[in-house]
Amino acid sequence: MYCLYYNIGLLGGLHQFNVPLRGADLAIFPHISNAYLVTQDVKIVEYGSMQDLSADKYSFTQCVDVKNGALLPSWCDSHTHLVFAGSRENEFVDKIKGLSYAEIAAKGGGILNSAVQLQQTDEQALYELALERIRELVQAGTGAIEIKSGYGLTLDAELKMLRVIKRLKENTPVLIRATFLGAHAFPTAYKNNPEEYIKLILSEMIPAVEKEGLAEYIDVFCEEGFFSPAQTTMICEAGLKVGLRPRIHANQFAVSGGVQVGVSLNAISVDHLESMDEAAIHALSNSTTIGTLLPNASFFLRMQDAPARKLIEAGALIALASDFNPGSAPSGNMNGVIAQACIRLRMLPEEAFNAATINGACALELENQCGSIQVGKLANFFITKPIPSLAYYPYAFGSNLISKIVLQGKEIHYSSF
Ligand code: NIG
Ligand code: FE
Repeated sequence: MYCLYYNIGLLGGLHQFNVPLRGADLAIFPHISNAYLVTQDVKIVEYGSMQDLSADKYSFTQCVDVKNGALLPSWCDSHTHLVFAGSRENEFVDKIKGLSYAEIAAKGGGILNSAVQLQQTDEQALYELALERIRELVQAGTGAIEIKSGYGLTLDAELKMLRVIKRLKENTPVLIRATFLGAHAFPTAYKNNPEEYIKLILSEMIPAVEKEGLAEYIDVFCEEGFFSPAQTTMICEAGLKVGLRPRIHANQFAVSGGVQVGVSLNAISVDHLESMDEAAIHALSNSTTIGTLLPNASFFLRMQDAPARKLIEAGALIALASDFNPGSAPSGNMNGVIAQACIRLRMLPEEAFNAATINGACALELENQCGSIQVGKLANFFITKPIPSLAYYPYAFGSNLISKIVLQGKEIHYSSF
């Protein structure tokens, strides 16, 4: 089944190679104006300039007039916590009144609050909540996503979260990667005995996750007051032994040493990076570990932003992701993420698009399937209303410019899955 998309005003993300971009290359977002694209079933089979379209080459089942809109690769969001039981807007109000993230956590709020809620919610209810969130994100242009556990913090509840993620993989058109984040916080019961919790992660949780084949990655919140660099290393090494590659929360609130731990473990990514010193930046420069920036979290927590420009200048690989979670980033909308990346992190629009598409796909190890418009890749893209330039997209940060969503070759509506 062939489908033609014609009168594309701007066809973007035409990368030839499936490698993450760094340095000056991050600012190159290959595109053509006045273009067409052909899909066959789930894949892209051809694209080019409108003047070169030979309409009788295929027998098209469907022809879509893009009416001068842009056609762009779907977002690849490589860091989310979108399985959670409930919102935490009470903490949002506490933050408005002046309490810090650490003070809220000390009051029993934060991650532990979400863990209690999640432990009390059954798998079906969690699944339905998460499915609804994915429906919303798909309409905002996301086509591939990473989802972490980490609000369970008991063997049963961690497995429950990961089973929900597995069902989401099976029942949505989104490409999903699962990450085991048992080391997200020390549960209250282990407050005075943190080593026991680490033992539980190593001796029960990781083997159970492996046995059921529930995750591709392992994550640790490497941060003062959470998991130390030594504990992070120990947990990630245990994950690596059963094929779970690390992707870790590093350098969010403090210069924690997490970046260096991630680089030395050959982590797929180190994420957050709001608190970076020269040594941490140097560790990432020319590394194959991707630095994933999460501007939603620094915005929402009123914190300093990650030093995107310094990282790009140092030759580090940069991806952008949403960090969607109920505590520090209650939005998974990647349109907002790229706008913030441009406005607050001073990334150029082309850099932001690349960081949220091809580099995000690399951070998900899905670069051979998505992240760019390429012959042979999945037809995962969105179509916009006519826009005067690529820069207009993050500039018009409050407008919903998306007019059509296509995943795996099919147009997706809110009620499609
Ligand atoms: O990525 N930093 C750790 N984890 C989340 C926050 C989780 C929460 O507050 O519930 C984050 O920001
Ligand atoms: Fe996170």
